[in-house]
Amino acid sequence: MGKIQIFSCEKHFQEAIDAAVLRLKNGKPVALPTETVYGLAGSCENSNAIESIFFLKKRPLSDPLIVHVFDKSWACDFFDWNKDQKACFMSLAGTFWPGPLTFVMEARAGVSEVIRAGSPTVALRSPASAFFREVLQRFGRGLAAPSANMFGHISPTTARDVAEEFAGEDLAVFDGGACQVGIESTVLRIFRDGSLQVLRPGCITPAEIEECLERVGSKAVWRKKTSGSIVAAGASPGQELTHYAPRSPTFSLVEGTPRDEAEGRSLEKTVLIDFASRHQKLRTTLLGYIDPAPLGSLRCFTQELFGSLRKAEKTKGVQSILVYFPKDLKGQWSDALRDRIRRSSSGRQAQLAESEAFFIPVQV
Ligand code: TXA
Ligand code: MG
Repeated sequence: MGKIQIFSCEKHFQEAIDAAVLRLKNGKPVALPTETVYGLAGSCENSNAIESIFFLKKRPLSDPLIVHVFDKSWACDFFDWNKDQKACFMSLAGTFWPGPLTFVMEARAGVSEVIRAGSPTVALRSPASAFFREVLQRFGRGLAAPSANMFGHISPTTARDVAEEFAGEDLAVFDGGACQVGIESTVLRIFRDGSLQVLRPGCITPAEIEECLERVGSKAVWRKKTSGSIVAAGASPGQELTHYAPRSPTFSLVEGTPRDEAEGRSLEKTVLIDFASRHQKLRTTLLGYIDPAPLGSLRCFTQELFGSLRKAEKTKGVQSILVYFPKDLKGQWSDALRDRIRRSSSGRQAQLAESEAFFIPVQV
């Protein structure tokens, strides 16, 4: 049995950088903070390191990894792009990098097939975290880094989450505090004909992408008719409907009040993750009540969603988890937030029963 080692990035920045770079040079994966979620990083040129990442996460080899680079000048080592793709990338990366936008384009020969999961494309992003950036600069090579959680489980937003996830493993975790964004990057495919598709929604929205391209005099052409079309669940690798899932059955809480029925589930064994104090009065009935954004900030709700799901699944005696579903809310984070809640609950929905002592799963 191995041992988790936690290094503080804030207290001992240089020592932590040295330790991370040494491990990477020795082909060992390390857990690093990013602005989105913690990543499990390994050299993109070291097949042992890449294999260890898949092995530690129990991730199927059919699921490709994102390569993290220092800046856009590193991208030409990875992308086999044409003029249109490159121009589009340069404008968007110039605006959004370093930051939570991942680009997917055709890969150059020599980019690891394991990282690409056999696909002709590769995904790249430049993270904003100062610690990760320093590691990249010192290491001088791209780092493949999926989120540092077991496959299908909730993504980690603190070093403690990572340590709990990989307890018993020989892994160095670099603690850079809580992640500021709290959900993973937006994944954007740029096709050969210059058209675009969002493969995974994140906090950079299709509207912002359109705006950025308009500023340089080009027009975003989305692959599907709807603006900023987001692919359906399962249409892209790693976009399964069940993802970010807690260990107890989880449901998106939607409006509506069905009659009490035998198959209702007791709120006494349920933890509710609420939003804007909507269901505060159920506090005394529920096993647990968490409201990450009592004043209604979508940003706070997004930032705290994964942490709240972890807290809910760790509550003693929990049998079900309900998450408020912000169906009609509009705003920067809303599509990504709905996507994560939908996937955490594997598409299951529930409503509160009339008596407000139960909730009732509903057919979607
Ligand atoms: O914010 C993030 O992106 C975090 C941090 C650590 O940077 N990383 C992350 O990685 O979320 P991961 O492995 O959990 O998610 C990677 C997703 C895949 O599930 C897939 O949807 C997409 O990126 N992806 C990666 N390579 C791809 C490819 N070649 N083609 C299509 N999609 C790809
Ligand atoms: Mg992930």
